[in-house]
Amino acid sequence: MTEKLKEVLLQATKEAGAIIQQYFQGSFQVDNKEGINNLVTEVDNHSEKRIIEIIREHFPDHSIISEEAGELIQDSPYQWIIDPIDGTVNFAHGIPICCVSIGLKFGNDLLLGTVYNPMMNELFFAEKGKGAYLNDRKISVSQKTDFRKACLVTGFPYKWPNSTEHPIRVFERFILEGLPVRRLGSAAIDLCWVACGRFDGFWEYNLSSWDVAAGYLIVQEAGGVITNFDGEPYSVFDKQTLATNGHIHENMLQLIRNKS
Ligand code: IPD
Ligand code: CA
Ligand code: CA
Repeated sequence: MTEKLKEVLLQATKEAGAIIQQYFQGSFQVDNKEGINNLVTEVDNHSEKRIIEIIREHFPDHSIISEEAGELIQDSPYQWIIDPIDGTVNFAHGIPICCVSIGLKFGNDLLLGTVYNPMMNELFFAEKGKGAYLNDRKISVSQKTDFRKACLVTGFPYKWPNSTEHPIRVFERFILEGLPVRRLGSAAIDLCWVACGRFDGFWEYNLSSWDVAAGYLIVQEAGGVITNFDGEPYSVFDKQTLATNGHIHENMLQLIRNKS
């Protein structure tokens, strides 16, 4: 069964990637969703349609959660969690940091995950218990133990209530510590770049399950640690995401929570 699941996952990922690449820096329709600059393009819908078609063709009774199509719930322990383009704002501006991200859950366990950026020819893949890969190369998180030398990445929600501390304040604390913090604009790629050791840590508020499902498994299988901001075990439905190489996890938790 796992071989068949893997085959279908990889087919859907590659076909979606080909669609993204075909339109990249070309012309396509861009619409606004809720909030300013929360974009969706016709390519998001095209990519999503093809992924769902492929899954449906082979596993018509599986459940699906997909960013644009919503929840297609069936009575099955298998659940595909899809972001047809993660990094849509980048995509719409011709910035080659965007990807398709697909995770597959069985009950509460993530079994398989892919994150594919066709513009960089980078396909990240993980299978539960079997490691994480970038194309054909096994990957692991960085070995950095010195937090002062860490390179970090984060992202920001499109909207935030006035009532609570804005994530920019947390960002400010990291910057005032003199740490390099990048903002790529694709949470799935941020997670994968922690998994392959380019970054030592990533945090973000208010992500959705489709942003993180595949990347979560890829980080774990690469030897990383992922929790919420209380340091508790992570679920793809959590609203706080902290993924690190493990060594700097506690340092990051302290700064995020502003406790020494
Ligand atoms: C977004 C990206 C971005 C993150 C946003 C997400 P989208 O997803 O992952 O990095 O900061 O919160 O919504 O809209 O490009 O699929
Ligand atoms: Ca996304
Ligand atoms: Ca998306």
